[in-house]
Amino acid sequence: MENVIEVKNLVKEYKQKRAIDELSFEVHKGEILGLLGPNGSGKSTTINCILALLKYSKGDIKIFGKEMSPSAYDIKREIGVVFQDVAVFNELSVYDNINYFCGLYVKDKATRKQYIEDAIELTGLEDYKKFRPKQLSGGLLRRLNIACGIAHKPHLIFLDEPTVAVDPQSRNNILDGIKKLRDDGATIVYTTHYMEEVEILCDRILILDKGKIIAQGSSSELKALSHIENATLNDVFLEITGKELRD
Ligand SMILES: Nc1ncnc2c1ncn2[C@@H]1O[C@H](COP(=O)(O)OP(=O)(O)OP(=O)(O)O)[C@@H](O)[C@H]1O
Ligand SMILES: [Mg+2]
Repeated sequence: MENVIEVKNLVKEYKQKRAIDELSFEVHKGEILGLLGPNGSGKSTTINCILALLKYSKGDIKIFGKEMSPSAYDIKREIGVVFQDVAVFNELSVYDNINYFCGLYVKDKATRKQYIEDAIELTGLEDYKKFRPKQLSGGLLRRLNIACGIAHKPHLIFLDEPTVAVDPQSRNNILDGIKKLRDDGATIVYTTHYMEEVEILCDRILILDKGKIIAQGSSSELKALSHIENATLNDVFLEITGKELRD
């Protein structure tokens, strides 16, 4: 199996606090890997270390078989990131926001136009192209955030809690779009603290707590770890850690 990401013995400390504690895992080509964990378990820190946005105390990170570093622009070009906090330009329309982010990677105008239309279709924003971010509902704004992160058709995509505070319809739309990205060949790392989402979406799941992997596998493999009949992932988490996954 081809590994798109390899993380070995990653340690990240913020002052005294160890946020990531000897974390090792791989992400396989073409899969959606879910990082599931409660608030503060280290999901965003892990992603930010992989992206070389944060310095870490110890560990090795390889992407596409190459050492990741802040200046590894050849790797970064192939990556799309949807951050936990929405980051778009309030002065620009939906279309112009996507055009801006896509334009950082795709210089050919005709190709870019097609890519923007594809991103708009994928996120279901056809009726909102001329809207400014402030005119969008929370769910539509999240969809714009995603469109901006993936419009350049990256091979590796990170989505950090893209459905927080999103209505069910937008959430389903987002999850369908993410599956389509995987089906079109992208490798995806998806963080959430919603169990239902990793069950619907993810090929493989890492359950994180206090910066460590406490269990990993497919949803059914993880549930089989529990002694409870018809266990949920929350039951698994509860059995291992003694606390609820939900905050
Ligand atoms: N800039 C920072 N300075 C100090 N501590 C930090 C900083 N960023 C994160 N932490 C701490 O590191 C730990 C991991 O945080 P992180 O944001 O990675 O968790 P998370 O799983 O993404 O949580 P959430 O679900 O709330 O987004 C937490 O204990 C957090 O308080
Ligand atoms: Mg986070």
